[in-house]
Amino acid sequence: MTSSQNILVTGAAGFIGSHVLRLMVSKYPNYKFVNLDVLTYAGNLENIVDLESKPNYTFVKGDICDETLVKTLFEEHQITSVIHLAAESHVDRSIEDPMAFIQTNVLGTVNLLNVAKEYWKGVFDGKLFYHVSTDEVYGSLGKTGLFTETTSYDPRSPYSSSKASSDHFVRAYGNTYGLPFVISNCSNNYGPNQFPEKLIPLFINNIVEEKSLPVYGDGQYTRDWLYVIDHATAIDAIFHEGREGETYNIGGLNEWTNLDLIHLLCEIMDEKLDRKKESSASLITYVKDRPGHDKRYAIDATKLCNELDWKPSVDFREGLSKTIDWYLENSKWMANITSGSYQAYYEKQYTKR
Ligand code: NAD
Ligand code: TYD
Repeated sequence: MTSSQNILVTGAAGFIGSHVLRLMVSKYPNYKFVNLDVLTYAGNLENIVDLESKPNYTFVKGDICDETLVKTLFEEHQITSVIHLAAESHVDRSIEDPMAFIQTNVLGTVNLLNVAKEYWKGVFDGKLFYHVSTDEVYGSLGKTGLFTETTSYDPRSPYSSSKASSDHFVRAYGNTYGLPFVISNCSNNYGPNQFPEKLIPLFINNIVEEKSLPVYGDGQYTRDWLYVIDHATAIDAIFHEGREGETYNIGGLNEWTNLDLIHLLCEIMDEKLDRKKESSASLITYVKDRPGHDKRYAIDATKLCNELDWKPSVDFREGLSKTIDWYLENSKWMANITSGSYQAYYEKQYTKR
C-alpha cells in the first residue's frame, strides 16, 4: 500500500461510515478522503459536521449507482482505494421494499467494482477495494456454534441476500479480473449516530418519550453486539494490514438475547433519568414477530484478533452507557431525524403489529 492515498468512502454520512471517516481523516492527514453519499433517510450530514473544515476531506452528494458520477470522481480525485459502506441496511425495510436493497446493495456495488476495474486498468499495485459487509450473510445459528470466515452463506432476508450477493460480486471481480479486494463481515453495531429504526436507538428514544418498547416475538433472539468505534478500528486495521483477497469476521464476543439486552438498557436508563426502578421495563410490549426472523448471530473473530492484533476495547455496559449519554445529550439530533418521514415509517411499521 502506498503512503499517500486517495480514498473513495461510500455511505459515510450514515452510522458506521461517519465513525470510520472521523477516525481515518484525523489519523491519516496525508490521505485524501472523498465521501460519496446520496443522503437517504439514513444519511445525515450532521453526523460528520466536524469534518467539513478538514483539508483532506470532500463530500459529494450522489448515488453509487450513477456510473457517470462515479467515473468522474475516480478521474478527478485519482482514486486509489475504495472503502464501500453505502447500503440500505435495515432488515424490516428490506421486507417491505426489497427492490431498493437490490438497487443499492447489488447494482450499486457492481457499478463501483466496474468503475474501479476500468479506471485502474489492470494496474493494481497499491489499489484496494474494501467491501464492508455483515454477519447476516451466514444465516441463522442454533443455540451453539459461531460464524467463521469459512461458514457457508445462507442469507435469509432480502437485506442479507442483497449483501451476500454483493460479497459474491466482489470475490468474482477478484477472481476474474484480479481486482484487489478485502471483505469484512461484522456483527450488530451500536453507538452514537445510529438511526432510530434499529433496536438500541429506537428503544432509547421510546424510553425517553415513555412510549412502548415493541419486542418482536418472544424476545429470545440473540445478537452479538459491537461498539461502533471498535468496528471502525477493525476496518482501519484490515484496510492497512489485511491480506488481499481475504475475508475477516468482526465481532464483539458479546452475545445477548434481545430481552436481556432490553432489561439492561431499561435499568441503566432508569438510573440516568432518575426514574423509579422498573419504570422503563414496564413499557415492554410483545408485538408480532418479524417474518423469517433469524434466531441467533455470533461471530468468531479469532482470525482478525490473531492476525491483526485487534480486540474490542469497550465492554458492553460501558458502551451502552456511553451510547445512552450521547442520545440524551443530542436530543436535537434525534428530534431532527424523527420529524417528517420517520413518523410515517413508525406508524406503518408498528401500528399494525
Ligand atoms: P446506515 O443505513 O446508517 O447508512 C448507510 C449510508 O449509505 C447512508 O448515509 C445512506 O445515505 C448511504 N446510501 C444508501 N444508499 C446509497 C446510494 N445508493 N448511494 C450512495 N449512498 C447511499 O448503515 P450503517 O449501519 O452505517 O451500515 C454501513 C455498512 O455496514 C452497510 O454496508 C451495512 O450493510 C454494514 N453493516 C452494518 C452493521 C450494523 O449493525 N449497522 C453491521 C455489519 C455491517
Ligand atoms: P435490528 O437492530 O433491526 O438489527 P438486525 O435485525 O440487523 O439484527 O434488530 C436487532 C434485534 O432486535 C432483532 O432480533 C430484531 C429485534 N427488534 C425488536 O424486537 N423490536 C424492534 O422494534 C426492532 C427494530 C428490532
